[in-house]
Amino acid sequence: MNVVILAAGMGKRMNSALPKVLHPLAGKALLSHVLDTARSLSPARLCIVYGHGGDMVPEAMRADDVAFALQEPQLGTGHAVMQALPALDDSLPTLILYGDVPLTRRDTLKQLLDSAGDDKLSVLTVTLDDPTGYGRIVREDGNIVRIVEQKDASDEQRAIREVNTGIMVVPPGRLRPWLQQLSNDNAQREYYLTDIIARAVSEGVAVTSAQPQSVWETLGVNSKLQLAELERTFQASQATALLEQGVTLADPARIDIRGSLRCGRDVTIDVNCVFEGEVELGDNVSIGPNCVLRNVRVADKVSIKAFCHLEDAEVGAESLVGPFARLRPGARLGREVHIGNFVEVKNSNIADYSKANHLAYVGDADIGSRVNIGAGVITVNYDGVNKHRTTIEDDAFVGSDCQLIAPVRVGKGSNIGAGTTLTRDAPPGKLTISRVKQTVIEGWTRPTKKQKPQKQD
Ligand code: UD1
Ligand code: CA
Repeated sequence: MNVVILAAGMGKRMNSALPKVLHPLAGKALLSHVLDTARSLSPARLCIVYGHGGDMVPEAMRADDVAFALQEPQLGTGHAVMQALPALDDSLPTLILYGDVPLTRRDTLKQLLDSAGDDKLSVLTVTLDDPTGYGRIVREDGNIVRIVEQKDASDEQRAIREVNTGIMVVPPGRLRPWLQQLSNDNAQREYYLTDIIARAVSEGVAVTSAQPQSVWETLGVNSKLQLAELERTFQASQATALLEQGVTLADPARIDIRGSLRCGRDVTIDVNCVFEGEVELGDNVSIGPNCVLRNVRVADKVSIKAFCHLEDAEVGAESLVGPFARLRPGARLGREVHIGNFVEVKNSNIADYSKANHLAYVGDADIGSRVNIGAGVITVNYDGVNKHRTTIEDDAFVGSDCQLIAPVRVGKGSNIGAGTTLTRDAPPGKLTISRVKQTVIEGWTRPTKKQKPQKQD
């Protein structure tokens, strides 16, 4: 099939310099949601009709499988689809989607396409309590005979509650001639795509319809308020899906998933957690309140405590992270690793059973198994120009407040005395210490506070 995505409308009510369809919902542009769903249907041709915002839309969406058609000026939905014609294959049915209607499910579109077959026109419709503003579906003897826009409708037609979502499938070979016959002789002086329905009926082409499972699948975004409402609707539906899978959510209204979150069995997620990109949680994982996880893999039985920030990281089984820990890109923890409060780990491998429990920076390091990193330890990885690696071998014990000036190696089973500034490799199995000898200054007296001169009258 062909897919045409209409995205030329200006979205004035967003009050933004960014074209409406590029505003994010669940961390992804509205148009990207539509594009991804369209792609899941494997269309032969895919065309986006854009208008406002210069080249911002094509620049943001550029891909080998997408054609772009500029609609300038915007003379209505029919006129918009006309601009896409050069990019389409006339011998295929055409699915028309809106770039500002992000949440239509693939199954719903499948159903619509099935109802159209390869010779019918099919419209996705919904029945609303308040149909104001929408095109009304006019039926005779149960069959759709035309769509009437709000502004052109009689009072009787305005009472119709079944409305056009705008999403439809046009049978092969028909789109071009029907569009060419559109006129703008209507209340809005626009070329209405919806006029092709009456045309189909007059030519004896069957018109059918399909309905989505939920009304929100067809809701469009015209304002920040509607965007925020749709975001909540979407997040709620994702939370419901997690609950149905058996995930425990402290509050389904206080979790945001901007991407995909895959959970094993018996996962518990406390309030105010944000998941971005691709996140995978193993069995029996618990995530404390106020955590952000972005592109993270967490193995079984891990506990992430409150206020942690993890990005592009991996956490091995039975590890403990936080509270207040930060795993930056390239942090890879083995099993039963402990990363405690105010510890930052970046681009480092920390092998099984190792611990950094308090106030440390571990950057560009390879740390073996059963290593203890004391409080306040810093890998000094940056000389102001280049980054260097630190290696800490198995069973090493790095005392508190050490600076490991990279590149440097801490040998297997060695101890580094507290407060050491390590500038050369520490041999295995030895105590290495660099510390100014402790001295006591005899005859020292504590300075006394100077007396302020007394005020004189
Ligand atoms: C349209 C339908 C109406 C339907 C409603 C659903 C027509 C004539 N009317 O209403 O029956 O109930 O959608 O929301 O089709 N667009 C362009 N170029 C244009 C005009 C619009 O690309 O010249 C795009 C918009 O960006 C938007 C979509 O088409 O994504 C719908 O436009 P909008 O103005 O919101 O819909 P209406 O015409 O009011
Ligand atoms: Ca609209």
